Amino acid sequence: MTDDVLADQAGYYRRRAGEYDATAYADLAAARARIARLVGEMRPTGAVLEIACGTGLWTEALAGVADTVTALDVAPETVAIARDRVPSDNVEFVVADIFSWTTQERFDVVFFSAWLSHVPMNRFEQFWKLLRGLLDEDGRVLFVDEHVDERDKEAYVPGQDEIVERRLRDGSTFRIVKNFVDPEQLHRRLRGIGWESRVRRDDGDWVWVYGEARPAT
Ligand SMILES: C[S@@+](CC[C@H](N)C(=O)[O-])C[C@H]1O[C@@H](n2cnc3c(N)ncnc32)[C@H](O)[C@@H]1O
Repeated sequence: MTDDVLADQAGYYRRRAGEYDATAYADLAAARARIARLVGEMRPTGAVLEIACGTGLWTEALAGVADTVTALDVAPETVAIARDRVPSDNVEFVVADIFSWTTQERFDVVFFSAWLSHVPMNRFEQFWKLLRGLLDEDGRVLFVDEHVDERDKEAYVPGQDEIVERRLRDGSTFRIVKNFVDPEQLHRRLRGIGWESRVRRDDGDWVWVYGEARPAT
């Protein structure tokens, strides 16, 4: 089941690239202000890997505070938009599937926005193992995602608790994974697999959570 859904999910974001900003963020100026606030609070400094960079709105903010940003996404169409948006010398874009990408580099920060909720539960532990391998000593993971209170806005496939159906403007439909984040539950799950974390609900007008995790010593 999962591999098919992950392929559908990648296909969905490829086809959605041109309409992503308008449907995900609507008011770009307001989105940039919120992103700047959250990035300012999280302070992702040093060498940063951004997973699932999408159209680069977060990449733009990361590039302003990090030494270097490696921004990765599986969808070449979204990366093309991100490249145009963020022509900074300290940013390198990579088109790759995070589940199969390999690198010798190690990062001070691995960051992702609106990505963890797209990781299937049966890959959760594997994903966090992968993150551990990407972090430098003393490195940390920073993330932002949608709070579980937003769950009702999705059309869950009957009988499935993590697969939703999404429709694009051209009428095409896709099945993707969507696991909204309950801060306490995520904290407990991470502790269970050897991570210390702080996961908080954002106080702003987005019903989001943001957090930080480090391998437990
Ligand atoms: C909800 S969007 C988030 C984009 C951006 N981080 C943001 O917050 O605006 C999810 C992103 O995950 C990317 N993605 C989906 N599957 C992926 C995979 N296996 N590896 C890397 N990126 C993937 C999609 O192409 C899409 O850009």
